[in-house]
Amino acid sequence: SDVVRVGLLGLGTVGCGVVRLLEGHKDDLEKQTGQHIVITKVLVQDAKKGRGVHLSSEQITDDPAQVLNHPEIDVIVEVMGGIDPAREYILQAIANGKNVVTANKDLMALHGGEILSVAATKQCDVFYEASVAGGIPILRALVEGFSSDRITKMIGIVNGTTNYILTAMEQEGVMFEDALAQAQELGYAEADPTADIDGLDAARKMAILATLGFRIDMPLAGVEAKGIADITQEDVSFAHQLGYRIKLVGIAQRDQGKVEVSVQPVLLPLSHPLSSVDGVYNAVAVYGEAVGETMFYGPGAGGMPTATAVVSDLVTVVKNRRLGVNGRGTVGPYQKRILKSLDE
Ligand code: NDP
Ligand code: HSE
Repeated sequence: SDVVRVGLLGLGTVGCGVVRLLEGHKDDLEKQTGQHIVITKVLVQDAKKGRGVHLSSEQITDDPAQVLNHPEIDVIVEVMGGIDPAREYILQAIANGKNVVTANKDLMALHGGEILSVAATKQCDVFYEASVAGGIPILRALVEGFSSDRITKMIGIVNGTTNYILTAMEQEGVMFEDALAQAQELGYAEADPTADIDGLDAARKMAILATLGFRIDMPLAGVEAKGIADITQEDVSFAHQLGYRIKLVGIAQRDQGKVEVSVQPVLLPLSHPLSSVDGVYNAVAVYGEAVGETMFYGPGAGGMPTATAVVSDLVTVVKNRRLGVNGRGTVGPYQKRILKSLDE
C-alpha cells in the first residue's frame, strides 16, 4: 500500500504542530517517501476541546484502544508526555507491531533501555529526536554524524523555558514569575514547569545525550541537577554588569572511562559562544577526539520546531518500512535509488 497510517497520542503544542507540518509539507513528504502519510486517529483527554487544526470528530478519540489496537495504523507518534500511561501505551503499540516516534524525554531518560530492547525483539523502530533540544537534529548527529569519532565532552543549553526566563529577566527586566507565565503561554514549558525550573528536564536530556554520545547506559539518577529557582533579577543584572551572563548549562564529560554529567546555572563570560544563545534557543557544543569542537544551535522548544524533529523521524520510519529495515540507515539520494529499484 502507498498509505502510511499514523496514530497520534496527544494534540497539544507539539501534536498540533505535527498535524500542521504534515499538512503544510504534504507534497514534499510524499515526494521524498513515495507514500501518503495519513493521520488516522488522535488520542486526547478531552475529545470535545477545540483544537485549531483540521481534523474531523471521527479522527479524535479519548479511547486509547482505538489508536493502539487499530489494525491499519503503522506508526504511533507519542506527544502526550509523562511516564504513565505513555510507557504502557508505547509498549502496547510495540507489542502490536507498530513503530514509534516520541518526543518524551521523561520516558526515554528513565525507560529508554526497556523500550528500545522490546522494540528490537519486534523489529519496530523507536525514534525520539524531539526529546532533546526541540528542532536541533542533535540525536541524529550523535548517532550518525559522529559514529567514526569518540566524543569526549558535550556542553549545552538544552532547556528552552529556563533560557527564555533568564533572557527575559536580563534583557527586559521581567520578573521570574511573569517570564515563566510567558514561556507557558508560548507552549515551551512542560505541563508541570517544575521539571524545567529545577533542572530535571535538562538532566533528562543530558542523560540521553550522554547515552548516545558516549555509547553507554547513562542513568538519570547519575545526573546531578540544580535549577534556576534561586536566581533573582538582581543576580542576572549584576552578572551582566561584570561581563557575564547566567545560563543553565548541562555538561557531560568522559575522561579515561569516567563519565560525569551535571546541570547547573553557571556564569559565562559574554565572549563565550553559549552566552549569546537567547530566548527559547538551545545550543550544544560537541567535542570529539578527531573532529575537535562542533556547535549545534536552534530553537529548543515550540510547536513547529519540535514538529520538524517528530516528522523527520516519521519520514525515517516510512522509508525504513519500505526498505524492510530498522534503525538509522542511509538517507538522501542513495536511499532514493534503493526505493526506486524497489518500485521496478
Ligand atoms: P501539551 O500539554 O501541550 O499536550 C499534551 C497532549 O496530550 C494534550 O492534547 C492532552 O490532551 C494529551 N494527553 C495528555 N495526557 C493524556 C492521557 N493520559 N490520555 C490521553 N491524552 C493525553 O504537551 P506538549 O505538546 O507541549 O508536549 C508533548 C510532549 O512533547 C511532552 O513529552 C513534552 O515533554 C515533549 N516536548 C515538548 C516540547 C514543547 O515545546 N512543548 C518540545 C520538545 C518536546 P488534552 O488536549 O485533551 O488535554
Ligand atoms: N519544556 C522543554 C523546554 C520543552 O523548555 O526545553 C522542550 O523539550
